[in-house]
Amino acid sequence: MKATFADVAILPGASTRVLTYQARVLSGAADQLQAIPGSYLGPIIRMARGQRLRVNFINDLPEDTTVHFHGLTIPEGMAGHPHGADIVHEGGTFVYEFDIMDRAGLYFFHPHPHMRIGYQVYHGLAGLLYVTDEEEAALELPTGAQDVPVVIQDRTFDANNQLVYNAGGMGMAMMMGFMGNRVLVNGRPDYELSLAPGPNRLRLLNGSNARTYMLTWQNDMPFTVLGTDGGLLRSPLTRDRLVLAPGERLDLWVDLTSQKVGTELVLQGQSLGYGMMGGMGMMGGMGNMGMMGGMGNMGMMGGTGAMGAMGSTTGMTGTSGASFPVLRVRVEGSAPPAATLPTTLSAKERFRVEDAMNAASPRTFRLEMAHMAFLINGRSFDVEAVAEDEKIPLDTVEVWQYVNATPVAHPMHIHNTQFNVLERTIGAASSYDYDTVRRAFVDEGWKDVVLVMPGETVKLLVKFTTYSGMFMYHCHILEHEDMGMMRNLMVGDSGAGHNMGG
Ligand code: C2O
Ligand code: CU
Ligand code: CU
Repeated sequence: MKATFADVAILPGASTRVLTYQARVLSGAADQLQAIPGSYLGPIIRMARGQRLRVNFINDLPEDTTVHFHGLTIPEGMAGHPHGADIVHEGGTFVYEFDIMDRAGLYFFHPHPHMRIGYQVYHGLAGLLYVTDEEEAALELPTGAQDVPVVIQDRTFDANNQLVYNAGGMGMAMMMGFMGNRVLVNGRPDYELSLAPGPNRLRLLNGSNARTYMLTWQNDMPFTVLGTDGGLLRSPLTRDRLVLAPGERLDLWVDLTSQKVGTELVLQGQSLGYGMMGGMGMMGGMGNMGMMGGMGNMGMMGGTGAMGAMGSTTGMTGTSGASFPVLRVRVEGSAPPAATLPTTLSAKERFRVEDAMNAASPRTFRLEMAHMAFLINGRSFDVEAVAEDEKIPLDTVEVWQYVNATPVAHPMHIHNTQFNVLERTIGAASSYDYDTVRRAFVDEGWKDVVLVMPGETVKLLVKFTTYSGMFMYHCHILEHEDMGMMRNLMVGDSGAGHNMGG
């Protein structure tokens, strides 16, 4: 697999220069590697739990990169950490090789070089990795054309169809995270999906740099959720709306059995979590930015000016701006063989708070803002640094808590683990509109990203297994991460090397 440049047709007219992963199968079944049809995103790698993945990677970019397989349990040295020998320099190569140990689900991979993640992902580097296992196979969920990846990203193009990124430089643009002025799905604008009038499975990934979406069906059809970041839930859940933050995945059952052929359904989004900025008196500063049209939440999508959209925000934790279409589904074709929604999906039990070593004194990470940067416990990323409170025992359930003392929402990601959300609490000052947001979270399952709203404290049950070593945790707003809202964790005995026994 090679990271390189390509010129692709995205919009009518001039082609767009992007970054892309080009891949081919060296050994293994040919169908374990697929393209996302018509897209510069991808490829899709399909693996069964227990298989070994080997990727011979070539960096054909004029800068450093690494490949990070997001959500998987990976040995230290294979996780794309931006340090030492893990960095793949311009023209360099690297072999990523590890066993797939995680549950069935949608995982993904993307670059992880220090301070360039936002740039490289924005320009197109992101691929999907599906894991299957026996538990999932036994459910006979929809497959093939009835199992569709939906990678949601926002992008801005200039008059010549070229991607625009961070035109405003560092500063406020980076504080908000970069927001594009139009939505692409699977790398394509105005995405239309044709689905059979039966059960379908949509695998959503928010691959945006910074935008968090509140999703609804325009016809108010409820969502049936099968799974989250780390695979299937114990049983399906129903939600009338969903929140999807950068890095998060949702596995949806979309039953179109009762829909007439020819029906069009619209999945629509609203931006979430940035309404507070207007109330913070930052509008003046934001108005100075060249990219504010895109940043002003749905300014360009909703057809109102950026400032207007900002002014219409509904509160500290609410959605803002008009809703916009994410994709359109056209019901077409003939009914596929009937499949029924299983009542039980997975036997895997959540971690129990009674099993945590520190329920009375959670490991606390305070998200703070100072000097135009976001910090974790007062610290910024330092390639090799690990603080005392970032040394984590292996094979131990712990309660962690993120306390968000900043005015923006942060989707906090932890490498090398799937955790559970234990509880959320929010301060009275931030509670306006919170109930709408709260009922759109799917906190029941296995997660590697959790959205922490302004003023909110989120408690997690976290456990690392199998590998000790240095891993990372960070905000998945890529501009926050690039600005240093990321830290190392030392899991297990530091210096003891890998525990391969798991
Ligand atoms: Cu998807 Cu360290 O990130
Ligand atoms: Cu990750
Ligand atoms: Cu953040």
